[in-house]
Formats: sequence, structure tokens, C-alpha cells
Amino acid sequence: MSKILLSGVQPSGRPHIGNYFGAMKQFVDMQNDYKVYAMIVDYHALNSVESKEELTQNILGVAIDYLAIGLDPEKCIIFKQSDVPEHTEACWIFNNLISMPYLMRAHAFKDAEAKNKDLNVAKFDYPVLMAADILLYDTDIVPVGQDQKQHIEITRDIAQKFNSRYGETFKLPEEVIKEDVATVPGIDGQKMSKSYKNTIPLFASDEEIDKAVMSIVTDSSGERPENVYAIHSLLKTPEELHVLYETHKGQYKALKEALAADLKVFIGPMREKREVLAQDIEKVKEILMIGGKKARAKAGEKMKEVREKIGVSLY
Ligand code: ADP
Ligand code: TRP
Repeated sequence: MSKILLSGVQPSGRPHIGNYFGAMKQFVDMQNDYKVYAMIVDYHALNSVESKEELTQNILGVAIDYLAIGLDPEKCIIFKQSDVPEHTEACWIFNNLISMPYLMRAHAFKDAEAKNKDLNVAKFDYPVLMAADILLYDTDIVPVGQDQKQHIEITRDIAQKFNSRYGETFKLPEEVIKEDVATVPGIDGQKMSKSYKNTIPLFASDEEIDKAVMSIVTDSSGERPENVYAIHSLLKTPEELHVLYETHKGQYKALKEALAADLKVFIGPMREKREVLAQDIEKVKEILMIGGKKARAKAGEKMKEVREKIGVSLY
């Protein structure tokens, strides 16, 4: 039986090249060797998306993105978290296994707390819902960017706690983090993130690519603009880059133009494919609905076992 790969993307805005190289590309590359569960974590995104229309559009958007990057719905299960209520059910049970001080030590929580004192409970409990997402599927691997490493560690801790209290139930998943793309920098040099407004969208138009690349922050003292180089290295081999950056030493504008041209070649065909897919929303909804049913069948079996083990199954 093939091993299980599961991962998720929040429908919280347009995906960017950091999401793609850090995580989404791995789902596509591995879809022939693993059973892939590609999730749209809409309940996680509820934390940042308040508008009903926006959330609906974003969910469909991520589904189209998954298809446009090459996930094959015949092979993979593409689904949204809210179609499998067992996730929130498991989250509640897991809440009883770990302490508040433990969750308060999570980096993501500490960062969020530093920025916003008025945090809601969902932000705090976020890793527990994520653990439920992963554990209900007997997941073997979770391809993610570096920022998610600690969340997978928390997931393993929760699995171990459950297993030791109630008997062997959950498999311990492993994160898969590709070293060279673990943290793709944004145009300001910080980690690229939807929440920092420093992204190059994965399906950007040519104009958006030009605008984003020209605004990449560069350090004027060096021969090589490091932020430009880091993004360029996603698209070209070290040998190709060496030649380019040697022949254009210190020529920041020319190097940015070269990066914009390479991004256009890379993004163009995917963007066109996306435009075609976006014309048939009914088809996209059907793919999600079928994916949701398959995912629920799998998670439902595990939850049945969980209810029995914790002692709430009476009939
Ligand atoms: P964002 O931080 O932009 O809101 P998500 O939280 O939706 O992105 O992340 C989706 C996936 O993309 C996760 O696996 C995350 O680790 C990965 N990811 C996000 N930003 C980056 C980045 N800058 N470099 C590498 N991977 C990233
Ligand atoms: N927390 C992840 C992020 O912000 C998204 C996510 C939710 C996820 N559930 C998941 C990723 C399960 C992998 C597996 O990117």
C-alpha cells in the first residue's frame, strides 16, 4: 500500500512562489509515489478572513491553484477541511492532552502575541486543529516550509500522548522540508508571506511580476543583490546563475530584469492553465465534493476508533 502524504494551504489570499517552492510543488512531484491528500484548510483561515464572500472565493481559488500546478484529481484527494467535521471533533479531544504553557511556547503563537495582544482562542489552538488534520489520515509525510516544523513536532507529541493514554492509535508523521527552499524570502528580504504583503504571487500577471521584482529591496554595497539572487535560484541552476551574476556584477537593474524575464517564463504557462480551469467552477466544486467524501470516509474510520478508545461509544 502506498504511503500517505498530506498537507494543507490556507485560503487566506493568493498563493505565492514561497508557498509553491516551499510546499505545493512537493505535492505534485510526489503524487505518483504517495497517496496525496491536498487540503484547503478553511477553518484555519477563518482566523484571518472575515468576509464570507472572500472566504468562498479563496477556497475555490486554492482548489483551482492545486489543479493549475498539476495535481491530478484522479490520483489525489483534493478537499476542504470543513467537509470533514471529524477534524474539529478530534481537535477537541486533543485539547485535553496538552497544556496551555506547552502551546504558549510555540513560535507562531509567540510571534502572533508579540504583534497583537488581543489574540483569539483559535489562534492559540491552531496547532491542535492542525494535528487533527494530519493524524486522522495515518499520514506518513507532511511536506511544508520551515515555518511549520514546530507544528509537526507538536502533532507528534499529541499523537504520542494519545497513544500512551489510550493505546496505539496514531502514526507519527514526519515533516519533509526541502532545505534549499525552506524559507523563500519576500521582496523585502523577510520570509515571503501572505500576511507580510511582500509576495510574488504564483499566478502573477507580467505587470505584477515587473512591479514586484523592481521593488525587491537590495543592499547597494555588494556586487550581488542577495535578495534577487535568492529568488532567482529557485528558477535556475547554480551554474547558470554563476555565469549570469559574474557577467552582470553590480548591475542590479539588469539582474532584476533577467529575474523578471525568467519568472515570466515560469509563471506564464501555469497562469494560462489556471485561467482555463477558472472558467468551469462547477467542475472545480465537483472535484472538491468528491475529495471531501473520500477524505471523510478515511477520517471517519479513525474517529470511530478514537471514540471507542476514549470511552464515549455506547452503541
Ligand atoms: P503564508 O505564510 O503565506 O500565509 P501558508 O501559511 O498558507 O502561507 O503556507 C502554506 C505552505 O507554504 C506551508 O507549508 C508553509 O510552510 C509554506 N510556506 C509559506 N511561506 C513560505 C516561504 N516563504 N518559503 C517556503 N515555504 C513557505
Ligand atoms: N499551518 C499550515 C500553514 O500555515 C497550514 C496547515 C493546516 C497544514 N493544517 C495542515 C499544513 C496540515 C500541513 C498539514 O501553512
